[in-house]
Amino acid sequence: MPINFTEQSTLHVGIIMDGNGRWATGRGLPRILGHRAGVEAARRVVEAAPDSGVGILTLFAFSSDNWRRPPVEVDALMRLMAVYLQNETPRCVAQGVRLEVIGRRDRLDAKLCAAIAQAEAATAPGRRLWLRMAVDYSARDAILSAARGLPELSRDALERAMGPPLDLLIRTGGERRLSDFQLWESAYAELVFTRTMWPDFDAAALAAALREFRLRDRRFGAVPQVPVYRQQAWLD
Ligand code: FPP
Repeated sequence: MPINFTEQSTLHVGIIMDGNGRWATGRGLPRILGHRAGVEAARRVVEAAPDSGVGILTLFAFSSDNWRRPPVEVDALMRLMAVYLQNETPRCVAQGVRLEVIGRRDRLDAKLCAAIAQAEAATAPGRRLWLRMAVDYSARDAILSAARGLPELSRDALERAMGPPLDLLIRTGGERRLSDFQLWESAYAELVFTRTMWPDFDAAALAAALREFRLRDRRFGAVPQVPVYRQQAWLD
């Protein structure tokens, strides 16, 4: 039975996968080995997500500001992403994962664009998990570009043009900022920051973040859900 991505029972989780560089340098390794270990962490989390109640997973793989990194690191990241897409496509197909890449394509090299197109086409029927990888992604640019595509600007129209709203946003690596990721979609996301470096993140860490999420009282600007007897007690 295909999942309905708009169902409340399936969560949209976004992850800012931070800490690869520190994980590597802390071990006396080059940063790129941290990114490689980060790919393994992504694989573990994608595998664990559907059985954890996650229907949509948006991973921040490369921000539009990451072009500022040394060219050797940028090249390595681009190659890693192309290899990841090639290697993971059969696994995604087998696991019912639909893979989509969000962000700009015009600055990516032709090989990576081809790997993206191939992975997206092959995994399109997947309904267990909608995996969105943000590559050359800027939330501010995404909002601008969606707004520019609308015949008439309204909040509802823009809401429809943007991606699905996030329920939970996790950032690993100890920093507490959004770094231009899913700014519109995170309007009512619960935020979980963890000191775990991304390469150490696994199914147990995802489960811990989801446990914390489920303890939160999501009010969306309304008042707390207080049982009637307790409201009465305040009035007495
Ligand atoms: C942040 O760590 C991580 C990135 C900029 C890249 C994230 C990429 C991966 C996990 C590999 C590619 C992923 C997939 C799924 C193909 P950082 O380098 O900023 O770490 P630091 O803050 O410790 O320096």
